[in-house]
Amino acid sequence: PNVLILGAPGAGKGTQSSRIVDEFDIEHVTTGDALRANKDMDIGHLDTEYDTPRAYMEAGELVPDEVVNEIVKTALADADGYVLDGYPRNLSQAEYLSEITDLDVVLSLDVGTEELVDRLTGRRVCDDCGTNYHVEYDQPEEEGVCDECGGELVQRDDDTEETVRERLSVFEENTVPVIEHYEGSEAFVSIDGERAPDAVWEDVRDAVAERA
Ligand code: AP5
Ligand code: ZN
Repeated sequence: PNVLILGAPGAGKGTQSSRIVDEFDIEHVTTGDALRANKDMDIGHLDTEYDTPRAYMEAGELVPDEVVNEIVKTALADADGYVLDGYPRNLSQAEYLSEITDLDVVLSLDVGTEELVDRLTGRRVCDDCGTNYHVEYDQPEEEGVCDECGGELVQRDDDTEETVRERLSVFEENTVPVIEHYEGSEAFVSIDGERAPDAVWEDVRDAVAERA
């Protein structure tokens, strides 16, 4: 199936996406990870405000559409079924997406603002394999060490409280209209994301299975 997962920063898109990928054997296409892997790519020729994705990300702002659209187009062309995570983030990206693919399922994870701030500022990520942890809700067996690969757990540059608040306001302004845009469609399913990961997963799995 072609799955789109929507939700605020920290809503659990990455967490649920990795489960979808395992269960349904499809690709994980995530613009956030793709941009983190290409942070210092020179985009100065696009006549944009900053010269690299890094500068946008550290400010909590959106990387220009031209850059992100190209990443998604290439990734979707190679995928036989996917979970798209982190895109579209504004109406112009949504318009572009509708020109390059069809969606079977659109999931929206709903979580309140204070819970989002808590989750993001407490998130720790494995420097080697990217597995997510949380200082309270999802601790590794040994503090600061990844259970999966033994790598070091670090805080993402944009998970400081100040940048988190900026990301949330960018989300309100740009991405809430995207969610409203999909709300009327048959593929749309809204899920209460403010529960334990396993409880959220039951609903996510059922929604995808029903429409796959
Ligand atoms: P991106 O990497 O996409 O970040 P995001 O959307 O801000 O989402 P996150 O990865 O922070 O959160 P998530 O929902 O995946 O939550 P997670 O599962 O990790 O984007 C980063 C930046 O890149 C953007 O700011 C922008 O600059 C740029 N960018 C990316 N895409 C772009 C685009 N399309 N256009 C332009 N610019 C773009 O969970 C969070 C934490 O909560 C974890 O610690 C986890 O363990 C914990 N947790 C998860 N689920 C639960 C639960 N049910 N209960 C308790 N804790 C939980
Ligand atoms: Zn690891």
